[in-house]
Amino acid sequence: MNETQWLEYSAKLRTRPLMPDFALRAMTEADRRAIYRFIKSLGPGGGPAPAVLPPGHKPAPPYLELVLPGAQAPAQSG
Ligand code: HEM
Repeated sequence: MNETQWLEYSAKLRTRPLMPDFALRAMTEADRRAIYRFIKSLGPGGGPAPAVLPPGHKPAPPYLELVLPGAQAPAQSG
């Protein structure tokens, strides 16, 4: 993705939770450009992120878990 593509993509990005996509959309173009340039400065990217799991499935570690007040304990699928 080039810088122009990132600026378009990040201005309209809608993701699943937990990503605070509203915060990214609220940033100025200059801030989103700065994020792009900073990340580019880190060098080549790694591999793709693991695929999304359906509810009730446990990923292989390492992972972070967010347990919300009043949430049902997730089903354990191994
Ligand atoms: C400046 C800060 C951030 C930037 C620029 C950013 C950017 C992004 C982008 C571009 C994606 C979509 C990746 C794709 O299309 O595959 C994404 C997804 C995601 N982000 Fe962030 N993110 C930021 C902060 C955060 C924070 C603070 C959290 C959690 C507390 C978070 C959690 C997530 C999650 C869980 C996803 C996956 C959502 C999904 O599967 O739909 N992000 N982020």
